[in-house]
Amino acid sequence: MKTVLITGCSSGFGLEIARYFLDRDWRVIATMRTPREDVLPRSDRLSILALDVKDPQSIRAAIDAAGPIDVLVNNAGIGFLNALEGTPMDTVREIFETNTLGTIATAQAVLPQFRERGEGVIVNVTSTVTLRPLHLLSVYTASKSAVNAFSGSLALELEQFNVRVRVVLPGRAPSTRFGENARTRMTAGFPEPYAELVQQIFANWEKETTVTHASDVAQAVWLAATDASSPFYIPAGEDAVEWYNAR
Ligand SMILES: NC(=O)c1ccc[n+]([C@@H]2O[C@H](COP(=O)([O-])OP(=O)(O)OC[C@H]3O[C@@H](n4cnc5c(N)ncnc54)[C@H](OP(=O)(O)O)[C@@H]3O)[C@@H](O)[C@H]2O)c1
Repeated sequence: MKTVLITGCSSGFGLEIARYFLDRDWRVIATMRTPREDVLPRSDRLSILALDVKDPQSIRAAIDAAGPIDVLVNNAGIGFLNALEGTPMDTVREIFETNTLGTIATAQAVLPQFRERGEGVIVNVTSTVTLRPLHLLSVYTASKSAVNAFSGSLALELEQFNVRVRVVLPGRAPSTRFGENARTRMTAGFPEPYAELVQQIFANWEKETTVTHASDVAQAVWLAATDASSPFYIPAGEDAVEWYNAR
């Protein structure tokens, strides 16, 4: 039986990815900052472990407790939307520590076992914002673009050990807790000179009809995990596929 370890399973894509793999008879290590037993169906193939990707000791403890794993899904991430002038450097650091350094540190922690076994897959969840610049997302986009670049280079050095790296690119998914979670760090508001631009951006979003669903991301991660011939970049969601094809 294969085992997947997923970060950020308390909501959204991570929760759906965990369900998807459980339904397909995998052993699932669903990790969360604050472990909750009530969000996933009970199963003897499910373990719920604490893992905060910003905390190296927490990563180490979770990887040790998980035992051998076949696939790591770096899904945990945070969002933020503002002009750079309205983005405190502490927020910039928090975004990079979670989205970029958290992904790198968790990948680093599983590599010895993958290399020794001569097998393993790392799936990094980034975003279609890395394909085409959008207003007010400079720092978030930079944090995810760094993961794309990191993944490409890592994939090359791991080929010799039969370890695969894939990047899943979801589009905009209003149904997860992403926006709500992002808003908790956006309380200072937008700088006044950018107010008109912000209104335009929000109005444009209202008009968008195609979105990404958590199930699209779970399917893309499944493809990345189970199909050695899958492409390095896998767009997830109708809007994501449109963007990817138009890039
Ligand atoms: N929704 C979108 O529009 C969208 C689009 C493209 C890409 N993405 C990416 O997809 C991934 C999942 O997002 P989502 O839409 O499912 O949002 P979500 O519902 O907010 O889920 C994000 C998850 O990451 C966890 N997390 C945050 N900081 C963490 C940390 N330091 N350590 C461990 N876990 C942490 C959250 O846990 P807590 O409950 O503890 O906060 C939550 O479980 C993220 O990487 C995001 O950047 C989202």
